[in-house]
Amino acid sequence: MPGGVSSPVRAFKSVGGQPIVFERVKGPYAWDVDGNRFIDYVGSWGPAICGHSHPEVVAALQEALEKGTSFGAPCELENQLAEMVIEAVPSVEMVRFVNSGTEACMAVLRLMRAFTGRDKVIKFEGCYHGHADMFLVKAGSGVATLGLPDSPGVPRSATSNTLTAPYNDLEAVKELFAENPDAISGVILEPVVGNAGFITPEPGFLEGLRELTKENGALLVFDEVMTGFRISYGGAQARFGVTPDLTTLGKVIGGGLPVGAYGGKAEIMQMVAPAGSMYQAGTLSGNPLAMTAGIKTLELLKQEGTYEKLEATTNRLINGIIEAAKESGIHITGSSIGAMFGFYLCEGPVRNFEEAKSTDSDRFGKLHRAMLEKGIYLAPSAFEAGFTSLAHSEDDIDETLNAFRISFSEI
Ligand SMILES: Cc1ncc(COP(=O)(O)O)c(C=O)c1O
Repeated sequence: MPGGVSSPVRAFKSVGGQPIVFERVKGPYAWDVDGNRFIDYVGSWGPAICGHSHPEVVAALQEALEKGTSFGAPCELENQLAEMVIEAVPSVEMVRFVNSGTEACMAVLRLMRAFTGRDKVIKFEGCYHGHADMFLVKAGSGVATLGLPDSPGVPRSATSNTLTAPYNDLEAVKELFAENPDAISGVILEPVVGNAGFITPEPGFLEGLRELTKENGALLVFDEVMTGFRISYGGAQARFGVTPDLTTLGKVIGGGLPVGAYGGKAEIMQMVAPAGSMYQAGTLSGNPLAMTAGIKTLELLKQEGTYEKLEATTNRLINGIIEAAKESGIHITGSSIGAMFGFYLCEGPVRNFEEAKSTDSDRFGKLHRAMLEKGIYLAPSAFEAGFTSLAHSEDDIDETLNAFRISFSEI
């Protein structure tokens, strides 16, 4: 396997060393094949918000397994998950399930173009929307980590309609609209960026994009593959009170199985085949196992107090990390929202990808190794957000902060 991994972000190229091979995961923990236990802040890159292998998710899956793994025909479970997503996510009136976040973003771009009859799209530097050709421009973490500004193999024609702007820069977006009148189908962004470290939208940024897209007859699309059901039950759009036209989802809604989704206003979604003429399909889409894991995960998340608990855990963690760095005289800038957090080894503030790149990556590599030695598994890149779960206990946070304290003093 190239680099020994099935997805490049799992490699340790930017932090040094070899990727750790896991044998099993449970709750907030992962065990490697040598029997070492790690407190895990990657959470399968987002899905494991209830903790790995939650007993209720596993039991539901075992039951579903007996009924078959793929129907290739409509199933009731799709309807159940669709209803839950529509109820939770403000922009979503209709939804289509796919198998990954990449697929959801590819499809949503086609839909943006089909609906508006325009070809261009604006994305932001450092935002990742999957690995489809037209999005592999200034695409954040995985690409940035490997030092590949653009990927070979992506034809210029595929990205010639992709315009980019710095995150949190409304003026730049305004200029792009002015330079490309009636040509831009819409703006797609991570409403809170998790693929360039962790960058939050400045007050007025999301609202400004909502206004600008409306004024220019373009669509606003929130890629909530990472933030959906993690920033809040209704995602970043519920948290910030800005409703896009279309939304992409993934990770949490599959509860650890392969799921993506895109949805939005009914008048736009009605364009998707077979209701409409925009073609998009999938052999395994909406398969019963993935739907089951998603439904059970959302049921668990819907229980009272869930997000208060996630937020408290994550706040305590990030504040503790900042404090621990200070004790060793190291300046870091960090923050958290919901069950997502991040920090940069720099003075900050960090408002966009350019500023994120001023983080001390070499020192991050040292920190990563020091933390691993103490049984803490952080994402192996300075440009990835961290994820907490309902399974992370006070004791786990204590153990983690202790490891940070010692590690900061070592680096
Ligand atoms: C915001 C965002 N969009 C899209 C994707 C692509 O999702 P997938 O890896 O499921 O293809 C990711 C993956 O990390 C993501 O974070």
